[in-house]
Amino acid sequence: MISKILTTGLFVAALSFSTSAFAADAVKVQEGASGKMMASMCAGCHGVGGKSAGDAPDLAGLAAKEVFEALKDFKGAKQDKKNTIMARIAKGYSEADMHAVAKEIATWK
Ligand code: HEC
Repeated sequence: MISKILTTGLFVAALSFSTSAFAADAVKVQEGASGKMMASMCAGCHGVGGKSAGDAPDLAGLAAKEVFEALKDFKGAKQDKKNTIMARIAKGYSEADMHAVAKEIATWK
């Protein structure tokens, strides 16, 4: 039993170690390119330059603050809205990510 707990602990420690190593790599990518890369993913639904051709609303013309606030709201969405597309996407974004992507999208006119 004890050894099982120990192994689990070690496994978790190893896991968090590898996650932080991965995060360090992600930070390297983030310098310069990340806001742009994240925004190009958004363009898949919201259209190139935020001019949507499909069901997703246009993002062109939104200010960085509006995009950031919207993402934060989606991330903190209540249970009944948790399964919407944007809530699922926003869940994976840190505040720094949201700022970076919002800043990029604000350049879409
Ligand atoms: C899979 C398609 C999809 C992707 C990818 C996507 N969105 Fe959305 N987004 C939507 C839909 C659909 C809505 C409409 C609200 C809803 O149904 O949740 C929306 C709504 C929004 C809104 C609110 C706009 C308004 O006028 O109310 C913002 C802001 C937004 N998305 C930003 C983003 C950002 C930033 C990204 C990239 C990180 C992104 N979206 C990626 C589909 C998508």
